[in-house]
Amino acid sequence: YVIGIDLGTSAVKVLLVNKEGEVCIECAKEYPLIHEKSGYSEQNPEDWVEQTILALKELVDHGNVNPEDIEGISFSGQMHGLVLLDENYEVIRNAILWNDTRTTKQCNVIKTKLGQKLFKITKNPALEGFTLPKILWVQENEAELYEKTAVFLLPKDYLRYRLTGQIHMDYSDAAGTLLLDVVNKEWSKEICELLNVNISLGPPLVESHDLVGNLLSEIAEQTGLKEETKIFAGGADNACGAIGAGILTPGVGLCSIGTSGVILSYEEDRNRDFKGKIHFFNHGKEDAYYVMGVTLSAGHSLSWFKDTFAHSESFEDIVEDVNHVPIGANGLLFTPYLVGERTPHADAVIRGSFIGMDSSHNRDAFVRSIMEGITFSLNESITLFRNAGKKVDKMISIGGGAKNDVWLQMQADIFNTEILKLENEQGPGMGAAMLAALGCEWFSSLEVCSNQFIQVSKTFQPIDDHVNKYKQLYEVYKNIYPQTKDLNE
Ligand code: XUL
Repeated sequence: YVIGIDLGTSAVKVLLVNKEGEVCIECAKEYPLIHEKSGYSEQNPEDWVEQTILALKELVDHGNVNPEDIEGISFSGQMHGLVLLDENYEVIRNAILWNDTRTTKQCNVIKTKLGQKLFKITKNPALEGFTLPKILWVQENEAELYEKTAVFLLPKDYLRYRLTGQIHMDYSDAAGTLLLDVVNKEWSKEICELLNVNISLGPPLVESHDLVGNLLSEIAEQTGLKEETKIFAGGADNACGAIGAGILTPGVGLCSIGTSGVILSYEEDRNRDFKGKIHFFNHGKEDAYYVMGVTLSAGHSLSWFKDTFAHSESFEDIVEDVNHVPIGANGLLFTPYLVGERTPHADAVIRGSFIGMDSSHNRDAFVRSIMEGITFSLNESITLFRNAGKKVDKMISIGGGAKNDVWLQMQADIFNTEILKLENEQGPGMGAAMLAALGCEWFSSLEVCSNQFIQVSKTFQPIDDHVNKYKQLYEVYKNIYPQTKDLNE
């Protein structure tokens, strides 16, 4: 067996997977987000560690397998979050997360000081969510904490450190820091020098399937796992989501709806230039890449609605009757900019909206309009992909958006692509388990593993009449951004 650990934004999920790719048990534990001010989003790294240990213990206690037979563990993690450690590797402050948008000023500094160099080296633009602007923010606003910093990590790297005592970062996650020379796979001396960041703050870099250690004895004791369990580095959640869906060659794209929403496509050509309009990152597969667009509040929009207006109900309850509401939610349109937007607007200040409210609208209409608004936002990424010459006609859908057939059909109709649903889909946690399986040498490559582990269970074809209706609505949707963008300036 192997274990995949997915350190998400709202919860950690651990999966026990056997050699056939079957999930024997999964356990999830939640932890809170801390929003001290508007635009701030933090977490206490200790919560990640405590909850992961509890989840692993539950997995061992209820998994009905001998821990001796669990060979390896690997990780998937929320990207970009900044964890600062002092020289004793103690956490210095709360982690500043990917959906925190306090760093517009620092992004402007990066743009001014680096200009085109930033694209050339990192293949990405300066965006609030990425790690480097967060480092500069701490440097500027919490100088005494910055002084104490000996190393920075990303969320799953910190978790891995606490389980193994070893400090590393893998390329797929390092790519989201804006400090990595993406093609040459090293920390960029040039960026560090120009921005006065000590290059030694960057941890040693490894491949996602690299063996990086074993379990610390106290962790083995607390979880019931054996100390010799092999620990492999793992990757960024979007890279792992792609691996877990078998996106390891060009052709089929990925739509992933979790807290954030992602449209992703495998990219072989490291010289391809998307002018920073879509992210370009190292894959968890060695020497491969992927490009993606991100909707910051995808599942987050639905959970905001649920927590605010239907607290005691489950997601299944609130989406149950959306099929009773026609396409277009009877004139109600939603834009999901609850914490600003990444793709295509790169605007930390914009906020969301409901447009076209009518006294006849009921809760189901609101829920449908939220689902449509999230999907329209993702379609803006697809439009960018298509405009850049990428063919998008078939996509695998994973995450919360793949749990509901109405939403899957909506994706097929709005994206005008075939949508594939996977058998027993497990998201990034499965990608992490596959990295552990590769590390344990169960398979010669991720592709061979994916042929064994991943099956399509259902396909959704775009329906012409729906496609046309959504096209008209999409034109209106696109206009909401320019019309509302000055509201919060
Ligand atoms: C990607 C991003 C999000 C997080 C969510 O750039 O910020 O998708 O990885 O965990």
